[in-house]
Amino acid sequence: MSIPTITGSARVSGLRPSTIRAMAVGAPGDTIDLGLGVPGWDLPEPARRALSECASTPGPLGYGPNEGLPELVTAIAAHHGLPGVNGDAGESARRVMVTSGAQAALYAVFQAHVSPGQRVLVSDPGFPAYGTLAALAGGEPVRYRLGPCGELDPAEFARALEETDGVALAVLNHPGNPTGGGASREALTAVATAARAAGVLLLSDEVYREVHLGRRPLSLHDVTESGVVVSSASKGWAAPGLRVGWAVGDPDLLAPARLVHNSMTTAAAIPGQRAAAALLRHSPDVLRDTRRQLIARWSVAQTAPEPVRARYTPAGGFYLWLPLPEWALADPLAHCRRVRDEGRVVVVPGTAFGPGGAGHVRVSCGGDPKALAEGLTRMAPFWERP
Ligand SMILES: Cc1ncc(COP(=O)(O)O)c(C=O)c1O
Repeated sequence: MSIPTITGSARVSGLRPSTIRAMAVGAPGDTIDLGLGVPGWDLPEPARRALSECASTPGPLGYGPNEGLPELVTAIAAHHGLPGVNGDAGESARRVMVTSGAQAALYAVFQAHVSPGQRVLVSDPGFPAYGTLAALAGGEPVRYRLGPCGELDPAEFARALEETDGVALAVLNHPGNPTGGGASREALTAVATAARAAGVLLLSDEVYREVHLGRRPLSLHDVTESGVVVSSASKGWAAPGLRVGWAVGDPDLLAPARLVHNSMTTAAAIPGQRAAAALLRHSPDVLRDTRRQLIARWSVAQTAPEPVRARYTPAGGFYLWLPLPEWALADPLAHCRRVRDEGRVVVVPGTAFGPGGAGHVRVSCGGDPKALAEGLTRMAPFWERP
């Protein structure tokens, strides 16, 4: 009797492992990984204390409420300056959805607000997960171009919106992965106005908002009360392993997304939530240290060997968006494989982030500064000559 082969459903059959992670597979032993976007400094002390208190407290460890621990919901509401923090605490709590990382918040919002056949506007270049999440909801991603420095370009956004039928959701990401590009007040206002006129929900992914060198980037909610803002403890608070994220927005928009998140995970893990609440309560110190860490790393990137040197300051995030040398433009993936196999450094080809990334590679500067300096030194010869 032959054993039937089990294949994935039609919805998952197009999914592929992430190029970002795939680049590290098969790398030589002493390779420096400048691929993954993770903060490489210590988990901040408030989170370590909260985790150890959790571990040493006798008694059951329950699931906790679906909507997240009240201490975390309150800390998130306070961080986002929600109305009601000083008045109606219940109203501000309804505007916060606690999730297992920003990734689960994005998943829940896509599932809740994109129907099969609908379109989702995503930035180009942009975080590859948006396209995957659109496909998982049965929708179709349609790209809108960012400006030359990766900034939100309201004209390009409006053009994509106008030219595309059936758009349910449009995703913003600023400061952006992979470019570090930002969004001005004027651009956010214009985009919010265009989305409202078209009846399209805006989802603003702001996980890198607290990872900035200059002025603190604006939030979508600085220009409008509409739309959903997503963030997490992963980048700004240097705690990706806690897997705690959140979405903030109109309670009616969040209600169906909460049901998706409950079906998927029940709730985010309690130790992670306690640690995230502690981090948020200590935001002034924790975020000051994040900026110190970022400055240390960016100064390495700005003093790297000339061909791979950072020549700009991003709006935020910890990525160096490095132009490819001319001779590598025809096959960026082959160039990155050479850099990995001969130079022993993992970087991600910009093509992993959409056609708009074709002329660049993404170098993650989040890790150890010494490894970053060594990695950039190893990369330089591949930018000097073919
Ligand atoms: C733009 C962007 N959004 C969301 C995420 C997911 O973050 P989290 O760790 O909170 O799930 C990432 C992670 O790299 C990211 O770069």
